[in-house]
Amino acid sequence: MANATHPKQGLSKGTVNYGDHEFALFLRKAFIKGAGFSDEDLEKPIVGIANTGSDFNPCHGNVPQLIDAVKRGVMMQGALPIVFPTISLHESFAAPTSLYLRNLMSMDTEEMIRAQPMDSVVLIGGCDKTIPAQLMGALSAQKPFVVLPTGPMLSSRWRGERVGACTDCRRLWADFRAGRLTQTQIEDANNHLVPSVGTCSVMGTASTMACLVEVMGLTAPGAASAPAVSADRIRIAERTGYAAARLAKGGVSMPVMNNAILNNALTVLLAIGGSTNALVHLAAVAGRVGLKLDPQQFNDIADKTPVLVDLKPGGEGYMPDFHEAGGLIKVIAELGDLIKTDIPTVFGDTLNERIQTVDQGFQQSVIRNRNNPVYPNGGLKWLSGNLAPEGAVIKPVAASQSLLEHEGRAVIFEGLEDMALRLDDPDLDVQADDVLVLRGIGPKGSGMPEAGLIPIPKKLAAQGIKDMVRISDGRMSGTAYGTIVLHVSPEAAEGGPLSLVRNGDRIRLSVSNSSLSVLVDEATLQERKNERLHEKLSLLGHERGYGRLHNQEVLQAEEGCDFKFLKAGANKQ
Ligand code: FES
Repeated sequence: MANATHPKQGLSKGTVNYGDHEFALFLRKAFIKGAGFSDEDLEKPIVGIANTGSDFNPCHGNVPQLIDAVKRGVMMQGALPIVFPTISLHESFAAPTSLYLRNLMSMDTEEMIRAQPMDSVVLIGGCDKTIPAQLMGALSAQKPFVVLPTGPMLSSRWRGERVGACTDCRRLWADFRAGRLTQTQIEDANNHLVPSVGTCSVMGTASTMACLVEVMGLTAPGAASAPAVSADRIRIAERTGYAAARLAKGGVSMPVMNNAILNNALTVLLAIGGSTNALVHLAAVAGRVGLKLDPQQFNDIADKTPVLVDLKPGGEGYMPDFHEAGGLIKVIAELGDLIKTDIPTVFGDTLNERIQTVDQGFQQSVIRNRNNPVYPNGGLKWLSGNLAPEGAVIKPVAASQSLLEHEGRAVIFEGLEDMALRLDDPDLDVQADDVLVLRGIGPKGSGMPEAGLIPIPKKLAAQGIKDMVRISDGRMSGTAYGTIVLHVSPEAAEGGPLSLVRNGDRIRLSVSNSSLSVLVDEATLQERKNERLHEKLSLLGHERGYGRLHNQEVLQAEEGCDFKFLKAGANKQ
């Protein structure tokens, strides 16, 4: 019964353990023939297609069409496509947070790739946590894979101005909070912010991660930017199937994830003005292959990498503009010697070969050249200091330049509930030059929600204050902007220094020195630490199931919030 040509290929791979391989294969064939497959089909190498379509995930609303096109590509290359479901995560539908569930999705993806007989796999992901989860899972499963992003949604117009999810969601909501929009207007805006299926239409986390997998050589050219509802996206899906079949047949080998590929990803993250969340995901991806992000090395790359892409949330354009301007490969071409281009891709070509196809001969304003960057360098900065001994992150390109060097009084909120109760209290003791601190929203504290964009207290917003220095151990949506310090580590729930700050302490942020400090001496901080030892700091409070596993195993932001036992070589530690 075994496949005569490829004994370890296709259906005969990894049979269920009955103690009789031939019987296991006999049963497997009998069952799949029930779905109408023939012996001839079942002799072929198999390409698995991870289906993350879900009615709860509009960012993946085009997955059925993508699957059809991937199948076409696979079959054109003489392999057999087989679709299987995995978990799907949407930012607005995955409570308490999508990051909390990312590792569950990565475990699901890893185990389903390993358990089922496939020779390569197409990972259809898109919404923020899905591509990271799939990448982590597939790297750990050690099977060849190609990533197919679902692609960005279209942009739209509301009352004459261009809008798209979800930078404008936040901006318009802030206008509503400050009384600049009425209830009727904000409800009407809600109908226009998401004009189609697909991922958020700005350079948020989803688009950032799509760009990173493209520069890592794990996608078809243009896969980061072609709109979800375009013919380009369908053609990319077909080509993805084509590449996955060639991987399955052994005609092309899977590139090995290494430091050069990771450094390329970090460089692109900076050049596109990408999301802070990507740093967490890249740290987790690195950990799956035995690598580690180095803060100093990251800041060195940041110091020499210009921001070349003018898209929201930091700039002006939307993802469809980026695609029309030439997409990621054009950015790579502009980066020149900052990127290592002899990197092989899953298609068997190299980045260098892709660069040769770039059309430089037309005017556009979305992708700048190195002589005329949007921002000269330092799109993201890794901070450290006595308030964040293991690090914190800021996105200077999305911040108020006047606040990048700032000292102010701490105004503390103990978690999201406390913030919701007191933030808009007219009696809150807060001034425009204070530093808002929100703690207890780290990975262990509450699953690291994207709540680091602390709203401006209503009484200050009403005075026209639009930005303040805000610090937390949480994350921020890649679609958000402001002078926001995130991922403070160790988090408060782990007893990090953030848990020791008190109202009125002075906090100093210096982006030029990459530092974040509380101006309180070490002896006083130690005294406060001794006083807090008895306190229960984790707010998640899971006693059983996945939540319990999460709280026991989750690592801090600088290690990607992965689980200890999922890292490469974890069983040897
Ligand atoms: Fe899915 Fe933004 S909510 S990409």
